[in-house]
Amino acid sequence: MGFNIAIDGPAGAGKSTIAKKVAKEKGYIYVDTGAMYRAMALYLIRNKIDPNDENAISAGCRSADITLQYERGEQIVLLNGENVSGLIRTEEVGNMASVSSANKDVRTKLVELQQKLAADADVVMDGRDIGTCVLPDADVKVYLTASARERAGRRYKQLKAKGQDCDLDTIEKDIIERDHRDMTREISPLKQAEDAVLIDSSDLTIGQVVRAILDLCK
Ligand code: DC
Repeated sequence: MGFNIAIDGPAGAGKSTIAKKVAKEKGYIYVDTGAMYRAMALYLIRNKIDPNDENAISAGCRSADITLQYERGEQIVLLNGENVSGLIRTEEVGNMASVSSANKDVRTKLVELQQKLAADADVVMDGRDIGTCVLPDADVKVYLTASARERAGRRYKQLKAKGQDCDLDTIEKDIIERDHRDMTREISPLKQAEDAVLIDSSDLTIGQVVRAILDLCK
């Protein structure tokens, strides 16, 4: 078992930005588990699977082979061999991922893959259930959060920078709905692990959050 750092928190809390920087500082592999759920969601959308049909999601997820590769330190997500890293970063895919990730078979398949990755390497892994379920024995656990308005503002700027048309109030509403779904689902809901350190990044810089996590690794 390598050295494992688990970072959980709600959508838009800055987990991936922070986790990538911590991984770089430590020379560890960064594992973005949300990207795996998004790749699965993209597969379901492409195959026109009804998000409310549990059996169809369970059957569909068996035909989706999701793997991670690393190119120059960047994580690449492959869906049945196709690089979908760019295609999964839309609000449509994120919202579908939030629904389909509540499915037991989707979670069993992806959690197994995540645990295998962490067994063989030093990792910084981010998601919703890393500290509580995927890596309960992680060496460092962080629960990273920020207010819904702050998180919506950050997402808005990211989408605008990519040239995507978006509206701040709609993003905030989606974030609140997604938080609710992620926190109230039956299997592995988003919650702070008992032994996780809470960091509210609303008034902190990226550098301050990274420093705080690196300090926890000493
Ligand atoms: O972090 P993200 O926005 O890329 O995640 C997309 C969705 O995937 C999120 O709404 C919930 C789900 N997810 C999950 O259930 N468990 C994880 N470990 C990571 C993401």
